[in-house]
Amino acid sequence: MRKCTLLDEKAKKTMLRKLPHPLNICGVKENEEVNGFTLSWVTQASFKPPLIVIASKADTKSHAMLKTSQVFAVSFLEAGQKDLAEKFFQPQRRVGNKFGDVEFYLGETGCPIISASLGYVECKVTGSLEQGDHSVFLGEVIAAGIHREGESLLLKDTPWEYGG
Ligand SMILES: Cc1cc2nc3c(=O)[nH]c(=O)nc-3n(C[C@H](O)[C@H](O)[C@H](O)COP(=O)(O)O)c2cc1C
Repeated sequence: MRKCTLLDEKAKKTMLRKLPHPLNICGVKENEEVNGFTLSWVTQASFKPPLIVIASKADTKSHAMLKTSQVFAVSFLEAGQKDLAEKFFQPQRRVGNKFGDVEFYLGETGCPIISASLGYVECKVTGSLEQGDHSVFLGEVIAAGIHREGESLLLKDTPWEYGG
């Protein structure tokens, strides 16, 4: 029989914070409106077809937009672009249009792609799971592009934590 033990909160937090994460911007849309949020919870999930998984905070504007449009674009940030990560982790309902002074263009999905980023992948949602305070969206990569060479921005190189 399985032994029932209480979850060791400290161990859970310490170990989960050892997972390495990049910091990128997930661009979303709904009809003519665009938005974006700082995304750390992302991973590749299949070669063929090319699939990635993202987790999106359930009580955000971006989550509602993702659910409606079923598309998203991930713009990959460069190591020095902490300012962009900081801008996009503010909630739209508090700060308004985050793309006001950030140069972007619309990809094939209609989602915003940050011009100054290293590059992007665009995805169509092919599955989702709504459990807990974040929902998981499985996205098939239907477009991708490289803007320039550079090193990725990593969560561990910032003062912020997201996880645990
Ligand atoms: C370092 C860091 C990493 C984050 N990673 C994620 C993430 O992976 N998924 C997510 O949904 N929110 C993440 N967030 C929180 C969102 O960026 C935040 O909720 C944002 O305000 C949502 O924007 P919206 O309200 O305009 O939709 C992160 C925040 C920080 C500070």
